Amino acid sequence: MSQRIAVLSEHGPYEVVIGCGGLRTVGDVIPSVTAADRFLLVVDQAVAATHGAVVQASLGQDRVAGTVEIIAEERLKQMQAVEMLWDSALAAGLDRSSAIISVGGGLTGDVAGFAAATYMRGIDYVQIPTTLLAMVDASIGGKTGVNLAIPKSDRLGKNLAGAFWAPKMVLVDPETLETLPVRELRSGLAECVKHGVIADHGLLELISSRASLLVSGDVDAVLELLPRSIDVKRDVVQADERERGCRMLLNFGHTFAHAIEPIEELDLTHGEAVSIGMCAAAWCACRVGLYAQSDAEALVALLESLGLPTVLPQTVPIDSLCLAMRYDKKVSGDRMRLVLPTHDAAVVRDDVSQQDVHAAWSRVMPVAG
Ligand code: GLY
Repeated sequence: MSQRIAVLSEHGPYEVVIGCGGLRTVGDVIPSVTAADRFLLVVDQAVAATHGAVVQASLGQDRVAGTVEIIAEERLKQMQAVEMLWDSALAAGLDRSSAIISVGGGLTGDVAGFAAATYMRGIDYVQIPTTLLAMVDASIGGKTGVNLAIPKSDRLGKNLAGAFWAPKMVLVDPETLETLPVRELRSGLAECVKHGVIADHGLLELISSRASLLVSGDVDAVLELLPRSIDVKRDVVQADERERGCRMLLNFGHTFAHAIEPIEELDLTHGEAVSIGMCAAAWCACRVGLYAQSDAEALVALLESLGLPTVLPQTVPIDSLCLAMRYDKKVSGDRMRLVLPTHDAAVVRDDVSQQDVHAAWSRVMPVAG
């Protein structure tokens, strides 16, 4: 039995369909969401032989015009990856009545989605997320895109080029999590915690009471978590698809996270960076009087119970982190927009001083010795 969550979008409605074994049904369900009968499969190389092969078999040879494998590394999430997909789509003979199906994590979906948004000025695409993070966050809401190189630096700015382009369906098969490395599972849990803090404290209680089951990938616990977390994402993107208002709340922890995620020596996954970023935002909120110390401590304890980092693995010069934050999309003119938690939810603030941001970073530095 599948659970369905309807999402309204400016590009038309679509559903997030959650069900064990869903991967094997792709070929049957796809005609109900798109008129396309030829598909380019864009598959994360790490799951090509497993989940990619199941989707391919379900669609059948006649409908798969081509398959492209993506290496899911942030440094490769650049325009060249999208150009490669355009070229593959053209070589496979895809036209405006064809579609792209992505199978993999958030990076694969972002790149495939951007190729779909731009190939022949936009073709249908379907998201089949195979990581928890992509299931609850990246695959929903129509954000697609790639990183850009920051001028006069050796850093990449996250998702600085892209498009809003809604999928025709998001198909979530929790069985795919059985092969997901535990570190990736924990990363997805960080985004679920984010959803809880900004909009659903009951979700935080659910995560807290099922922490060890969730970390071990228990299917029943995950099936309880998925719709609750996806509901938060759906409600927010439906209210503000283009991120002019409340969708900014989904960036809780991300402005801090985007400064540390690209630092290769830190070796942080997106979710780990978000976990540390949420802690920094929480300490920042304490400094400006929005959040109680006890609330921040409870958030840190919850993240630690999920095995997520709450301080950086090594010290980084804070000035360089403050500079990197200025290249985030959440910066408007000279003002940095930060999402800060409150006891009940979260707020967007653009009046936080550099000293407060600096002090927040110092709270997530490792203690010397
Ligand atoms: N992951 C943040 C958003 O979709 O807006």
